[in-house]
Parts: sequence; structure tokens; C-alpha cells
Amino acid sequence: MSASVIIVDTQQKFRHKLIIKRPSSGLSLQGCIRVPGDKSISHRALMLGAIAQGETQIQGLLLGEDPRSTASCFQAMGAEISELNTNLVKIKGIGLGNLQEPPDVLNAGNSGTTLRLMLGLLASHQGRFFTVTGDSSLRSRPMSRVVKPLQQMGAQIWGRKNASIAPLAIQGQSLKATHYHSPIASAQVKSCVLLAGLMTEGKTTVTEPALSRDHSERMLKAFGAKLDIDSDTNSVTITGGTQLYGQNVIVPGDISSAAFWLVAAAIVPDSELTIENVGVNPTRTGILEALEMMGADIVRENQWEVAGEPVANLRVRSSKLKSCTIAGDIIPRMIDEIPILAVAAVFAEGTTVIKDAAELRVKESDRIAVMTQQLNKMGAKVTELPDGMEITGGTPLTGVDLDSFTDHRIAMSLAIAALNTSDTTNIDRAEAASISYPDFFDTLKGIICS
Ligand code: S3P
Repeated sequence: MSASVIIVDTQQKFRHKLIIKRPSSGLSLQGCIRVPGDKSISHRALMLGAIAQGETQIQGLLLGEDPRSTASCFQAMGAEISELNTNLVKIKGIGLGNLQEPPDVLNAGNSGTTLRLMLGLLASHQGRFFTVTGDSSLRSRPMSRVVKPLQQMGAQIWGRKNASIAPLAIQGQSLKATHYHSPIASAQVKSCVLLAGLMTEGKTTVTEPALSRDHSERMLKAFGAKLDIDSDTNSVTITGGTQLYGQNVIVPGDISSAAFWLVAAAIVPDSELTIENVGVNPTRTGILEALEMMGADIVRENQWEVAGEPVANLRVRSSKLKSCTIAGDIIPRMIDEIPILAVAAVFAEGTTVIKDAAELRVKESDRIAVMTQQLNKMGAKVTELPDGMEITGGTPLTGVDLDSFTDHRIAMSLAIAALNTSDTTNIDRAEAASISYPDFFDTLKGIICS
């Protein structure tokens, strides 16, 4: 009998139920796969391409809903972006300071990166007025983390609750350079301030408590921005007023998407997967270190560099996992992978503790609450902590009715957990996966052997 992974439309428009049936004879995962382009790099390539002078060409762009939101916002402000596809996207940039007042509200959809990074650019476009919003998840997420530093630079931003949630209205200003000490390690905050600094006379510095992903720094430099990095203090300084020039960007596979397969092959017995062309920027590889700490058998088969970002093939084989403690500076380097790490912990021997990860509460869903609730429904032993989870592994899981809460990473994490249950699992609102990984369920079907 072969394993079934069936996606059934439950009649409600755009709402799918994923059904995973595990055959009684068991299953394994085998194959050599690729994951879609990195989401963070895709957003940045579209944004910098739009505001640079001349043509930018992007290969390997993620075709998920989030980058589509970025593309449509920048198209609405005058950038010419060709039809989105993975082979080649061409952008005719409009040059620094030339984003046009859009005729309508800019809608970032589900994408925090789109909204927060874009705010830095909009706030610094003097004399132009913008309104921005997003879907119901994004409209409940904190924006004060970027509004505050921008206001420190003189930005004019209005919105409900003291301009802390979208929709927001922005009257572009000539900003003044600042040194912002961010209380959180957030690449979105860092990038927002740097993008505001691009158009601001003088030197704008942002310091963060721990290093978050550095894709903005790498790409801004490649496009010609004047950037100084002080790694001793986790500070980046941008000197404003320098024109950016269009570049060729090759987007590596997203390690956040590869993480689902790393954990899947680690926990499903007799599995072996090779994931080709995965971005292994050290500010993103916390998940590899965490899984290795747990005893996962992961090999980086080779490593090379593509357009300023390190890339490798990752081979993973199933192994017996043990618990670990994840806390401190590794957290920002694996913040999006904690839901799937929680799944690995459920199948590991001992008690895994995840701490210092309160940021998970303000992602696309409250990922601490949702993962705790959904995994416990399956029979796992997970205790919610204010800033993480305590997970005692080793209890067999049962297939039950689950819900993604419209969070893409929750949908995919639960699907991987379901591979190791004794029964049938139903995941409601599983279509959320298309935010960052439209082909996730097709790839899953392709690697299941029984
Ligand atoms: C992102 C940064 C992270 C991450 C998000 C993408 C980015 O958010 O969770 O999915 O592209 O800058 P924070 O750095 O704000 O935590």
C-alpha cells in the first residue's frame, strides 16, 4: 500500500484540508530535491532592483505569495517588473528617491518583511504620501518596532494605537541620520532603518543585541551602497545619498524551507534526502547547528558562493535524536525554524528546552501557543513557556484534526509531524504553505516511498 497525501477542497473557497494517511507498513522518504528561492533574499532583490538605477535581473526568485506582494507594491510605485517566474525576472529600476505616490493603498498581504522594509523607504520619500496595509494577520502584528526608529529620524506616520498597527499612513520627509539601538535582534528592524538611511544625509547606524540575518547588508553593498559593519558591536552604518545600480541576483534555495525536509528525513525511519542548492549564510544556519546537537546526520556535501551568498547541498539520513537546549544568540539565526525544530524534539529522547524566543508570539501566528496546542492534540508532551517551549519527546503521536491558523510554517511543520503518526491527520487551512512554499505538498508526495 502506498502512503497517501491528499489535498481535499472542503468547499470553502481557498480553504483546503490536507489529509495525510500513513500506511500500516510504514513509509520512508527518499530523493534528491530542490527547495524554492530564499524568501528574505527574494524580497530584497525585488526592492533594491526597484529603487536602483538600471536593470536588475533575478534568477531563482521565490514565487510564493509574499514576494508577489512586494512586487505588486513596488509596481504600484512605478517600478517596471516583468512577469514573475523562477527563471528570470527583469526589473527596470527607477533610481534612488523616485518611488511615486501610488494611486491606492499598498497591500503587503501576509508579509511582515514587505511592510516593515518598505516603511523605511516610504518614510524617507519627501513630499509623497502613502498608505499601507496587510491581511488580518499582518494587521495584528507590531509595527512600533519600525515606526519608533523612523520617528526618531523625523518620520511622520499615523495609524491606530499610536501608529503601532497597520493600516498606516506615511507622509514622506527628509529624515535626519540617527544611531538606533534596537531592543530586539530583528533583520526587519535593521533593514528598515538601513533603507531609511539610504536616502538620509549623513551616517545612519543600527545596533542590535545579537546578529540577525545579514542579507540586506550583503545586497546593499552589492548594489553600491556605502556600508560599514562593526561585527564586535553588531552595528551597521549606512552613508546616505549614494545611488544604487541594478545587479544580477541569483537567489539560493531557502534554508527555512529546507528545514522541513531536514527534520522529516531525520525523524522518519530509513530515510535519506539530498537537498540541493541551499543557502547556508551563517546568520541562517542555527537550524543545522541545533539539529546536529540533537544527533541528526546532516552532511554539507560541498559549498560554493553565488552572488555573495554561500550555498551547499545538504544530505540528511534518519537517526536517533536526543534532546537539546536552544537559547540565546542562536535564536535569531533560526527564528523561522523553531516550529519544525519543535517537531524534531517530539521525536527526540529527553526534554528539549527552547528559550529566549518570545518573538515567535508575534510572527504570522503566535507560534508558541499554536505549536504547543496542535502538537499536544496529537499526544505530544509540550509545555508552553512565556518565551519558548519545553518538549518531552518519545510519546507516539496519533493522527487527529489540526489547524494551521493560516500560518505557512505551522501548516508545513504539522504535515511533517503527521508522517510519523499511527493514523490519519487532517490539517485545516493547509493552503497557507503557499506563502513561502507553493509546491510543498507536491514535493512531499514525490519523496514518500512505502
Ligand atoms: C525576515 C526576518 C525575520 C523572519 C522573517 C523574515 C527578513 O524576522 O522571521 O520571516 O526577511 O528580514 P525578524 O528578523 O524581524 O525576526
